[in-house]
Amino acid sequence: MLDLKRLSREINSKIQEINDRESLEVIKTNYLGKKGIITEAFKILGQIDPEKRKSFAAELNLIKSDLLNDINNFQSKINFKEIETKLKLETVDITLPVNEIRRGKIHPVSQVIDELTSIFSEIGFSVAEGPDIENEFNNFTALNTPEHHPARDMHDTFYLDDDKKFLLRTHTSPVQIRTMLKNKPPIKIIAPGRTYRCDSDMTHTPMFHQLEGLHIGEEVNMGHLKGCLEFFLKKFFEDDNLEMRFRPSHFPFTEPSAEVDISYKLENNKIVVGKGDKWLEVLGCGMVHPNVLRNVKINPKKFQGYAFGLGIDRLAMLKYGITDLRSFFNGDLRWSEHYGFDANDVPTNYRGLSK
Ligand code: PHE
Repeated sequence: MLDLKRLSREINSKIQEINDRESLEVIKTNYLGKKGIITEAFKILGQIDPEKRKSFAAELNLIKSDLLNDINNFQSKINFKEIETKLKLETVDITLPVNEIRRGKIHPVSQVIDELTSIFSEIGFSVAEGPDIENEFNNFTALNTPEHHPARDMHDTFYLDDDKKFLLRTHTSPVQIRTMLKNKPPIKIIAPGRTYRCDSDMTHTPMFHQLEGLHIGEEVNMGHLKGCLEFFLKKFFEDDNLEMRFRPSHFPFTEPSAEVDISYKLENNKIVVGKGDKWLEVLGCGMVHPNVLRNVKINPKKFQGYAFGLGIDRLAMLKYGITDLRSFFNGDLRWSEHYGFDANDVPTNYRGLSK
């Protein structure tokens, strides 16, 4: 019969020798494996004299559970040791100099917004903001675009509720309303931001960017509007000889209204802005409609002014030769790498915008 006292002593001394995962596995198989000594001993319990069987089995069980206990303890010790060595080997010394840096780039839309803010701040505009989610009053009604006005349908509006009370703003013009409701004239602001229309192709995305301009005072007239836009376009395209023209147009919130075109030509199928026999529409503008002033409790007999709205993404495409608007919003790193701007190269009036 198996001498359990000897077995227990033997196991105890073997356990002292464990120092890694392999020696642990050896003991596991030798004693508890399919053909292990303890496993075999259980198999022959039936052959033992029934008188001794009980105490033998109890003692064998005890040896087994002690051994299992020891094995578990060693297992966690070994695991811990392994993690420690791994951590030591994989330590990152954050004080070491970096060999390879991947620098982020400024998106052309952000760059152009910075350029525009820089230009307009030079002639006295400050920056105003409004939320992307608007109510229909600010986006339409107050802007002299009442319900059932055809201009509402033309905007392909994303409504947020069945009553059409809330929507994603279709233009930045509601910021005009917000600003005039909050401040008394004189007012001279620009408002860059996201705008939304249900439309998507090479030159349209459901989300795009506009910049709104608003100048209200006692004697602000169409000449000021023209001077302001001429200053801006020449600065923006960095071309003092840039040709532009005003073309009569219609917006519900301005009267008279105009669209502004700049001249361009095609060179190797690429648009070159500045001179040429072709015209490209870049913005909408006009004198703020008296109804709009009345809607925000400004007396149109005393105050008047101009407003304009332009597409930021379109200007970015034109200035930086980008052909597909959708590529602006794909989040492709290679694209940003190519068209993006250095983060340290902030556009300023005195240091230059893009050069
Ligand atoms: N909000 C107009 C548009 O999105 C542009 C505009 C703004 C026209 C201000 C005139 C005055 O088309």
